[in-house]
Amino acid sequence: MEKKNYKRTTVTAALPYANGGVHIGHLAGVYVPADIYTRYLRLKGQEVMFVCGSDEHGVPITIRARKEGITPQQVVDRYHEMISRSFEDFGISFDVYSRTTSKTHHKFAADFFKKLYDDGKLTEKTSTQLYDEEAHQFLADRYVTGECPHCHNQGAYGDQCEKCGRDLSPTELINPKSTISGSTPVLRETKNWYLPLNEYQEWLKKWILEGHKEWRSNVYGQCKSWLEMDLQPRAMTRDLDWGIPVPVEGAEGKVLYVWFDAPIGYISNTKELCERDPERWGTWQKWWQDDDTRLVHFIGKDNIVFHCIIFPTMMHAHGGYIMPDNVPSNEFLNLENDKISTSRNWAVWLHEYLVDFPGKQDVMRYVLTANAPETKDNNFMWSDFQERNNSELVAIYGNFVNRALQLTKKYFGGVVPECGELTNTDKAAIADFADVKVRVEQHLEQFKFRDALKEAMNLARIGNKYITECEPWKLWKQVDAALVQPAVERREDGTLTAAALKKQQDQNAQLIAQSEAARRIATILNVSLQLVGNLSIAFDPFMPFSSNKLRKMLCLDDFRWEQLGSTDILPAGHAMQEPDLLFEKIEDEAIQAQLDRLERIKKENELAAHKANPVKQDIAFEEWEKLDIRVGTVLECEKVPKADKLLRFLIDDGLEKRTIVSGIAKYYKPEELIGKQVCFLANLPARKLRGIESQGMILSAEDADGSLSVVTTLRTVKPGSEVK
Ligand code: MF3
Ligand code: ZN
Repeated sequence: MEKKNYKRTTVTAALPYANGGVHIGHLAGVYVPADIYTRYLRLKGQEVMFVCGSDEHGVPITIRARKEGITPQQVVDRYHEMISRSFEDFGISFDVYSRTTSKTHHKFAADFFKKLYDDGKLTEKTSTQLYDEEAHQFLADRYVTGECPHCHNQGAYGDQCEKCGRDLSPTELINPKSTISGSTPVLRETKNWYLPLNEYQEWLKKWILEGHKEWRSNVYGQCKSWLEMDLQPRAMTRDLDWGIPVPVEGAEGKVLYVWFDAPIGYISNTKELCERDPERWGTWQKWWQDDDTRLVHFIGKDNIVFHCIIFPTMMHAHGGYIMPDNVPSNEFLNLENDKISTSRNWAVWLHEYLVDFPGKQDVMRYVLTANAPETKDNNFMWSDFQERNNSELVAIYGNFVNRALQLTKKYFGGVVPECGELTNTDKAAIADFADVKVRVEQHLEQFKFRDALKEAMNLARIGNKYITECEPWKLWKQVDAALVQPAVERREDGTLTAAALKKQQDQNAQLIAQSEAARRIATILNVSLQLVGNLSIAFDPFMPFSSNKLRKMLCLDDFRWEQLGSTDILPAGHAMQEPDLLFEKIEDEAIQAQLDRLERIKKENELAAHKANPVKQDIAFEEWEKLDIRVGTVLECEKVPKADKLLRFLIDDGLEKRTIVSGIAKYYKPEELIGKQVCFLANLPARKLRGIESQGMILSAEDADGSLSVVTTLRTVKPGSEVK
């Protein structure tokens, strides 16, 4: 699609569920990149609105309320507070952060639904749904768990299997169980309203597959695989009592599907802001219905279908709305090689981080961006966090800034010295950073935040190299000490009085006039200080706190993004404050404390898993002796046709060849197992599986996540050896 010249941008960040805190996975996946992008647009002087808020409906919230014996409203009140505080603490600069339990939102979402309903855009359908007879309610989404029909994960939810990632409906689950009462639900008829996605499939194909080939490949690819299947009508209402009542007669006891109301929250939150300050923001329609507005959704990868298919279809069916121009979606961030999980407390929570590392929000922003899961899942390691802080922020960025400022303080009393004639070294350094603006911009416009950050860091590398090459401290030895008077006194806040400044400026001028070496040092430091000024601009979208701090030291109140790459950011004669360190080293102990904490959590989880799976009752020794476990060598192994769980083995058991069928196809490729030795139960009566007679059972260990690993011996043994 041709690139349009938009007048303004609406940036949204996925509304977080108000049933837990914010962790680094959220930050890395959605909020930091969205914030960098928005800050960048603002710095460029573009008109932009950054919208977010809490997603306060949905089943997980009611489940938590039930567990804690409080109301859903109490749950969302608590977490809305906590989440907004975390975002504020980390400098996520939303223009509005509201919530989906607000009046404005309830009305907006209900009206949106009503319009679709009145215009005949929704279809009414009666279906059989799971019903909990003990709790007297229908079981939507996460109110049911059971076995996934695709990957046979036992703990799949009624809306999704977290193991294989497939979307599910509660009635698809094998052996469903109510999470409210634990009982087995029954089927009951109920009426709901559906959005006929199938009717919009061609339109979606054209819009995305033809029109947005520039979307990130993970996003485009997911859309493509959805759009290559037949889309099905999707229920937009639920039989629940927590949510926005369906504004239609005969819909008592039903609410809007949370994925219907939540994205509308972007719009209603915009409306709220516009009504609060119409002079500044204009009308909400300007941000959502004007063709000159560009809409960008920042989300995590589990949200792609909702933001690329369902919400656009809702807006298209409603009419009048602009479509998202891009949907930059990140993959997931793991923590120390393990999936981040709220229920297992395997996470770094923002509010806890700030207790352990006060004032270090930029360090986290930096590390999460440098290591952002932009194209693949990535891993957060505490050792990497320390390394990036110590050898990048401290040793490169902080070090250069400190050298430039300390030397200027020492030689010129903290007043920017005059730039003299440029040498080739100076010119080369200046040329090196002259095009950094173009490069940072190119990456940011393509949502490549890691690369953009690298370019910014490169500036500091250029600076360090330059100052090391020039060695002003060596030149200083040639300056006649008698020419230098003690630095002028400062006010308590580090600033100079007008008279003191004048005195210092005169002294610097004199020094430069009388000494060739001083002239050269002045030029080197002038160039270095311009670079420092550049750094404060380039890093501003990424690390706003440090940039602010740096600009304070530089006494640089006014700056523009456009100055990036230039050498006239700090004029000669400009007085700066006392320099302070921008970053500080993080010691091993602080990192070890974090690793210890994770280790503790892991232990607790193991203990809990153990409790959930306690050791069985004792047996008599004779019982054990009855088991005949042997080692066999795998001669053949292949998939059983039409059974996605099963592998058929042919095993050399020492005497003959025996066939065993085993349900481990998901965890091994057949060729991986051929030639390997396995342990099997040899005296289990033969039984037929998918028409194949299985003579025994292959032993596997089941991991906490349900995955299977075949049991073998440490050394190769003769086939038929007994396991005792
Ligand atoms: N609460 C959802 C999640 O965390 C995201 C909602 S995004 C919205 O996955 F568009 F629906 F608002
Ligand atoms: Zn599954």
